[in-house]
Amino acid sequence: MDAMINSEASQETLYTEIKSFFDSAPPLRDAPDISRKLDEFLKWNSVSPGSERGSRIVCVTSGGTTVPLEQRCVRYIDNFSSGHRGAASTEYFLKAGYSVIFLYRRGTCQPYCRSLPDDPLLECFESASDSNIQVRQLHSEAVKRAISEHNVAVAKGLLLKLPFTTIFEYLQILQLIALSMRSLGAHAMFYLAAAVSDFYVPWESMAEHKIQSGSGPLDMRLVQVPKMLSVLRKEWVPMAFCISFKLETDSKILLEKADMALTKYRMHVVVANELSTRKEEVVVVTSSGKFSVRRDKTQAGADVESPLIELLVEKHSAYIEDSKS
Ligand code: PMT
Repeated sequence: MDAMINSEASQETLYTEIKSFFDSAPPLRDAPDISRKLDEFLKWNSVSPGSERGSRIVCVTSGGTTVPLEQRCVRYIDNFSSGHRGAASTEYFLKAGYSVIFLYRRGTCQPYCRSLPDDPLLECFESASDSNIQVRQLHSEAVKRAISEHNVAVAKGLLLKLPFTTIFEYLQILQLIALSMRSLGAHAMFYLAAAVSDFYVPWESMAEHKIQSGSGPLDMRLVQVPKMLSVLRKEWVPMAFCISFKLETDSKILLEKADMALTKYRMHVVVANELSTRKEEVVVVTSSGKFSVRRDKTQAGADVESPLIELLVEKHSAYIEDSKS
């Protein structure tokens, strides 16, 4: 009885923290435009069986969120993520017949552009004559692939890309996406690979102007960002198949933490990865067991995301079947 009261009280505290996070967040400037794009995308992809457009839709989050330290932001705290995991996974989900909402940090890795050099504009192109620009031979295959596959996915209405920078933008857009995907039931999937800030400065207590360095050491109070995973699972999209990630640098605690996340946030899957080996191996943690997934080292350029997405699609299919009974 005491345990039940305690858990209800902590639930209540979480909801108060979430409300206070959203109430104090600076309003999304382009919310109407994002809602319109989501509406159009979901209408287009809610189609009859057999169509090329997917009846399954996944929201892939990618890249790290920032925490601004000033309202007219000059300085911010960042979270590590190159966006490679999200971009690669998006490609494999599209290949598996899913439509994808790609919620990504501006400036991070993009689907189909992973094999382009760091500065594609300057490195991939050269002047052919006074007025013409041509693709350098060395990069022509990669450029062709990026343009054709990316543009085909967008033109067919199978890929919607929505950018964020701050933790405020990320969580507000994630909520808009989740609420609009609610009606898809078990066909909706959330693949939360973004590295989300754990602490933030509430907007109302944030300095408006650039913090001056002449006034000695900086003393600043950061508040915990409420974990949105429980509210996503319970309130926003109760029927969706939800996958979160667990990143650690100490492999000894990784699986234990992933198990905890699975139970605490009632995720269907937690993908456990260690920072230094994340491109080689991940462990898919579910209530029915743990599955180690490795990149196929015998194939040049093989990604760990290929077998990972294959396994997750299988698990999602089983979940959709189960939800029918
Ligand atoms: O982008 P790459 O360079 O390819 O790297 C990929 C990756 C290592 C970033 C990715 O595979 C990964 O592990 N992403 C999750 C990193 C992370 O934030 O882990 P975490 O243990 O802090 O959070 C666990 C989960 O809780 C995440 O799914 C996150 O979306 C969620 N979270 C976190 C904080 C918070 N306040 N609310 C949340 O919902």
